[in-house]
Amino acid sequence: AWAETVVTIDAAKPGAVINKNVYGQFAEHLGTGIYEGMWVGPDSPIPNTKGWRNDVVDALKELHVPLVRWPGGCFADEYHWREGIGPRKDRPVKVNTMWGGVEEPNSVGTHEFFDLVELLGADAYVNGNLGTGSNQEMAEWLEYMTSNTKSGLAELRRKNGRDKPFKVAYFAVGNEAWGCGGNMTPAHYTNLYKTATTFLKAPHDNRPKFIASGGNDHDLTWTSTLSKEVKGNIDGISFHYYTIPTGKWEVKGAATGFGEGEWISTVKNTLAIDKMIANNVKVLDQNDPQKKIGFMVDEWGTWYDVEKGTNSGFLYQQNSLRDAVVAALNFNIFHNYAERVRMTNIAQMVNVLQAMILTDKDKMLKTPTYHAYHMYVPFQDATTLPVAIKDNASYKLGNTAVPQVSASAARGKDGKVYLALVNTNPNKETEVTVNVAGGKAGAVQGSVLTADAMDAHNTFAQPEAVKPVPFTAQAKGGKLSVKLPAKSVVVVNVE
Ligand code: AHR
Repeated sequence: AWAETVVTIDAAKPGAVINKNVYGQFAEHLGTGIYEGMWVGPDSPIPNTKGWRNDVVDALKELHVPLVRWPGGCFADEYHWREGIGPRKDRPVKVNTMWGGVEEPNSVGTHEFFDLVELLGADAYVNGNLGTGSNQEMAEWLEYMTSNTKSGLAELRRKNGRDKPFKVAYFAVGNEAWGCGGNMTPAHYTNLYKTATTFLKAPHDNRPKFIASGGNDHDLTWTSTLSKEVKGNIDGISFHYYTIPTGKWEVKGAATGFGEGEWISTVKNTLAIDKMIANNVKVLDQNDPQKKIGFMVDEWGTWYDVEKGTNSGFLYQQNSLRDAVVAALNFNIFHNYAERVRMTNIAQMVNVLQAMILTDKDKMLKTPTYHAYHMYVPFQDATTLPVAIKDNASYKLGNTAVPQVSASAARGKDGKVYLALVNTNPNKETEVTVNVAGGKAGAVQGSVLTADAMDAHNTFAQPEAVKPVPFTAQAKGGKLSVKLPAKSVVVVNVE
């Protein structure tokens, strides 16, 4: 029998605060993610500030990007910071052996990265090199960035144009130690982490939070070993999970032109992160009951087959309405674990994997994922509110079924109640009754993101084919019914 879906927000029971860094970004020296996509250099005819494209920076500023992770990813474990300081013309050209074997000019180094985050008004998350670096190299990098003394390294920073120390909000020791970061076991990495952090020193008022490289997918051993063995100097354990439509790395599925089978498997594979986070949080709750350690999902997003004709090492993919739905489903899940999930970084900011922005020479476009981030800005630093969904329907195809509606609510810093809703069904609009427990929901207003096709996307010829439009609904006879279009993301403020 058909039952109406009812979403009830309990505004009287505030939960954890959603750290704004849950909306963090990731920029790796990979493909055109940095060079071309963001960095064009100060002499470029493309309008820029200190080498960074004005169009891209302006668009990112609208997202209130809170945090940027750099320089990798896998690249981080081959990055030597000394090659990226001093006059750019004197910096050595390297081979980016991780990504496409292309030349890495080292034009973007520490000072340029901090120019970017300062232009964005974001915090810096610097990923150290454990793989091919040394404890000394990492420790000296941190001193170079943070010291306010007259030490040789601090003076070198001044000579390179920066008097004041940089603010390093987070510093990670290596990346994916289980794979590209060195193919280690959790026990081996844990010892290396303890040793490295012993020597990572910074002034007490500019001490970064330290992040250990953790596990991925269903592997709990990293979280469990690290949280059991590391007693100090650990503020977070990282975790990576990518949504792959087919679930298989060999043939992942296309970014556009897919059928409904890959729509529903993408939704299902995205929702799988919920259980992974829950399992890791359970381990953390056992080993770290004081909740000192955050669970940092510092890489996530869709990973498709690369676009035809592009360098397979560049991970360039289109981005469609499906990606916006994936982003919103992830946000709603992250909010539920706000107490532990204190940072996430979508992979990646520009031109790589699930990007906010795609560029082509001097042109740029905002992807549907960009729009999802923009719609969710009120959730940054908002206080979660419990949401109950009664009689949620299933959206089914063949043997696969997923919940049709996903919902999340929070009280924004402006005091207003925000509600995010996703309809995962690409074929059917769904009607949801919205209630506020112990109060009244009179109206909602905000925006909706949807399109006719599952793979609707923006192109340089039609950069605004997919974008949010205003959305409102009014209570009638004391009942607030909200119609969610098929395959849509809705974010509203509830009055
Ligand atoms: O985001 C692309 C790559 O995916 C990162 O460099 C690596 O950490 C992960 O395997």
